[in-house]
Amino acid sequence: MKADLINKYNVPGPRYTSYPTVPDWDANTMNAEVWKDTLLRFYHTDEGQAGISIYIHLPFCESLCTFCGCHKHITKQHTVEQPYINTVLKEWNLYLNLLGNRPIIKEIHLGGGTPTFFAPSELKRLITGILSQSILADDYEMSFEGHPNNTSYDHLKTLYDLGFRRVSFGVQDYAPKVQKAINRIQTFDTVQQVHQWARDIGYTSISHDLVFGLPHQTIDNVKDTIAKTIGLNPERLSFYSYAHVPWVKGVGQRGFNDEDIPKGAEKRRLYEAGKAAFLDNGYYEVGMDHFALESDHLFQALKHKTLHRNFMGYTTNTNKIMIGLGMSAISDSWTGFAQNEKSVKDYQKAIDRGELAVFKGHLLSSQDLMLRRHILNLMCHFETCWCDDILAHPMFEEILHKLKDMESDGLIQLSKTGIKVLPEGEKFVRNVCMCLDIRLLESQSSQPRFSMTI
Ligand SMILES: C[S@@+](CC[C@H](N)C(=O)[O-])C[C@H]1O[C@@H](n2cnc3c(N)ncnc32)[C@H](O)[C@@H]1O
Ligand code: SF4
Repeated sequence: MKADLINKYNVPGPRYTSYPTVPDWDANTMNAEVWKDTLLRFYHTDEGQAGISIYIHLPFCESLCTFCGCHKHITKQHTVEQPYINTVLKEWNLYLNLLGNRPIIKEIHLGGGTPTFFAPSELKRLITGILSQSILADDYEMSFEGHPNNTSYDHLKTLYDLGFRRVSFGVQDYAPKVQKAINRIQTFDTVQQVHQWARDIGYTSISHDLVFGLPHQTIDNVKDTIAKTIGLNPERLSFYSYAHVPWVKGVGQRGFNDEDIPKGAEKRRLYEAGKAAFLDNGYYEVGMDHFALESDHLFQALKHKTLHRNFMGYTTNTNKIMIGLGMSAISDSWTGFAQNEKSVKDYQKAIDRGELAVFKGHLLSSQDLMLRRHILNLMCHFETCWCDDILAHPMFEEILHKLKDMESDGLIQLSKTGIKVLPEGEKFVRNVCMCLDIRLLESQSSQPRFSMTI
């Protein structure tokens, strides 16, 4: 790996869980009424009627991990559980009234924050409430994020009995010095215990979240964490690049100094060490930051070119509609995005008034829809073809100029028909997408908005 390429391409850039990316949304194009209209239009197409995904954001955590970039609300008061679930169920009822028929549910994902902050009985009330007025597709998938420190056997069993077969455990790194810096003390024994419970109960896809680039992390730490992780044989792994975004409101990224964070080529070496360990042990790289065993659906989706990416990251589910419930949750109707209020209080107030809690969003233009397709192709399959109107776009020359620079660095191959990202260029796929990101090219913001691409 050439350090000069790392230096050249290590710039702030989006992770492309959506296009346009959230900082480039044009809030003037979306409000609750527009959102309802775009959702209904797509819902009543054949694709919309085939099934939808539901993402439920469960924001509470008992303590703050200082590296965390998620929307969370820190509290030790479990009295918040019941009113929060009541509000989510009310919000779902608002959607049911809007959709007008019993939707087919293909996917439910519980994310956070910490879903396992909630008692199993509250999670059961939530899921049965959602399912009681819907039709579950035959090939449905239900998954949740479990914090190893508070996931109980009862959580795993209750959710399994409701139909959950996939769980991801937040591990990050096992080194005590790293755990202390990120204020997240969690032993291997704890993770091993919850992992084994999930296995015994019958979960068929267990995933562990690891992060590289954390404060004080070394190659030896990464190798040790991965050796321990692989020893448990999870089907899937996320290996996230630490996103350092201290300017985002509500993010708790303190408790360590800037110089404690590995950066640039040093950070990339952590990824390469991890990747080598995964590949040596039978895992395949899927997209930008995931690894999976050959038997796992995620690898099969990559193989069969059905891999998809949305706000939850890479997924096997290709549904175009995702309804996000809960504080800060993002919904996607394919032609529009809408995000809920980002504080628990404002979210609850809106739902109590009988209104959807949409506070910002974006209506996609035909140009956005075209670029969304290209960026999705690149992020999922490392290639895209010029089989649409992009060749006639007034900015195509500028796009091509940027892409040619990446071609001369040996990272991509350009042809008359499209782009192919070469193996050496895969780590720079965010940069390839940035060449096509017209909204980014046009935006003049001098404010820090994105984490670094490497
Ligand atoms: C919502 S959390 C997982 C559930 C649970 N709260 C926990 O911590 O175990 C989802 C995952 O996002 C990842 N994550 C959070 N903040 C991040 C950041 N700043 N950069 C990269 N990954 C991050 C972590 O790997 C974390 O496990
Ligand atoms: S990493 Fe998980 S537990 Fe920690 S603050 Fe973020 S969401 Fe909460």
